[in-house]
Amino acid sequence: MRIFLVGINGKMGRTVTAAAESMGAEIVGGLDVVKTGKYPVFGSAAEVDVDFDVIIDFSRPVTLGDVIALALGKGVPAVIATTGYNESETAKINELAKKVPVFRSASMSLGVNVVESVLPTLAAALRGFDIEIVEAHHNQKVDAPSGTAKQLLSAVEKGLDEAPEIVYGREGSCKRKAGEIGMHAIRGGTIVGEHTVIFAGEDEIIEIKHTALSRKIFGVGALKAAEFLIGKPAGLYDMTDYLKG
Ligand SMILES: NC(=O)c1ccc[n+]([C@@H]2O[C@H](COP(=O)([O-])OP(=O)(O)OC[C@H]3O[C@@H](n4cnc5c(N)ncnc54)[C@H](O)[C@@H]3O)[C@@H](O)[C@H]2O)c1
Repeated sequence: MRIFLVGINGKMGRTVTAAAESMGAEIVGGLDVVKTGKYPVFGSAAEVDVDFDVIIDFSRPVTLGDVIALALGKGVPAVIATTGYNESETAKINELAKKVPVFRSASMSLGVNVVESVLPTLAAALRGFDIEIVEAHHNQKVDAPSGTAKQLLSAVEKGLDEAPEIVYGREGSCKRKAGEIGMHAIRGGTIVGEHTVIFAGEDEIIEIKHTALSRKIFGVGALKAAEFLIGKPAGLYDMTDYLKG
């Protein structure tokens, strides 16, 4: 598998490179504004002169135009792991998926995706419980709340009868209303990623917590997603499809 890595010199880019080398996958180059390392690094899709079977993207939403140009230009699938896209960017990703296979997940971790799969059941069963989602990440993370926290929120919403009101942090006079879901983002140090979904009822609390102890889980997950995507028909895939096999 020949991989083109968008964001090749970022934290996740370096993690994917190390994981690919140990799994026998080949990195043929990447896109980044930082031009270091042993692989060719290009500044834009127009400059790319290498061939590859799949794109893996861990960068910033601003590179989406290049990712789309490369996927369409080469006719290859794309694993889009970057988070923080707005609505119009998300619409462009959905359009791209009509033409090539696209794998998109805010978390490439198996554990997070298993948590996601049980949340609709828990939310439906724990009627009347107050729900809060707390996430913690390193001090360099740009977007808040995290893409994974939003993904977990969507999973919770699937189990509810009525759309909740989402409250981002609290300050001042803001007594909790029934049907609210609080979203909270902690930023500090080198925290890789923690997500806790709290169901607080009368005299009992259930907490579902996932802790990423290293970035490797996301890197390996993205490589497995890339392998899964090669040869698939155009469409939008996520970890649920991967888990089904
Ligand atoms: N889906 C997942 O499982 C998962 C896991 C971890 C991180 N992420 C997401 O992946 C993204 C990258 O995370 P990171 O921690 O590696 O960040 P990072 O800042 O360490 O790396 C981002 C890289 O993208 C490059 N970049 C930024 N703007 C660019 C541009 N205009 N053109 C070319 N390159 C550009 C930067 O130079 C940098 O090397 C973030 O959106 C993060 O939320 C997703």
